[in-house]
Amino acid sequence: MKKPVIAIDGYSSTGKSSISKVIAEKLGLIHLDTGALYRGVTWFALQNCTDADDAIDLNKLFSSLDQIELEFRNDHGELVLYLNHIDISKQIRTNEVSDNVSIVAKQKEVRDFLLHSQRSLAEKGGIIMDGRDIGTVVLPNADYKFFLTASIDERTNRRYFELAGLGIQADREQVKQNLIDRDKIDSEREIAPLKQAEDAIVIDNTVLTKEETIDLILSYIKKI
Ligand code: DC
Repeated sequence: MKKPVIAIDGYSSTGKSSISKVIAEKLGLIHLDTGALYRGVTWFALQNCTDADDAIDLNKLFSSLDQIELEFRNDHGELVLYLNHIDISKQIRTNEVSDNVSIVAKQKEVRDFLLHSQRSLAEKGGIIMDGRDIGTVVLPNADYKFFLTASIDERTNRRYFELAGLGIQADREQVKQNLIDRDKIDSEREIAPLKQAEDAIVIDNTVLTKEETIDLILSYIKKI
């Protein structure tokens, strides 16, 4: 039997990636955190494509896209993102990247650059991919589509503790503002905006634990 293709979209810090990772383990699927790819391109831009004011120069980035090689490697069961053979899994979670990623992800050149590899990874089935446009653009024929949402205060708490767990000190108000700003840019952009696919199952997990959200998603997968 062909293994399923599952799309998980939703707002920032709704737990999409950590939930997808567990579901992948339970169902024997590959997990692709597409947000990490956009973060990887942003980290590259911050290192290599800035102007005199240290802001990202998008034109420099567009002409350097062919120098970017992003790859996930399995490190003791954890998928670790490498940029040109260097582990950047910690760097992509920094505030500097979070503050710039939505502007980078808005660009057609960047989205086209990442679209092909995302689609080809799903060709053989057996994958769960999380992001913002998976059910709408990347994999419109996915077998299952879920859209995760939660209140902004709950999402702020989750992101704050995620950063603390990575040893990154953050200001709670700044974390909240970054989530609000990113969701706005992601939802309002012209190309592949963050939006629920018409055939997606919406899950508000404000009062659900990670385990409860996973169980709910699995119950739908088994039912359909
Ligand atoms: O899931 P995340 O917070 O790590 O994603 C980082 C940013 O990348 C997010 O603000 C929007 C962008 N993104 C996107 O535009 N499309 C995707 N499929 C995944 C992420």
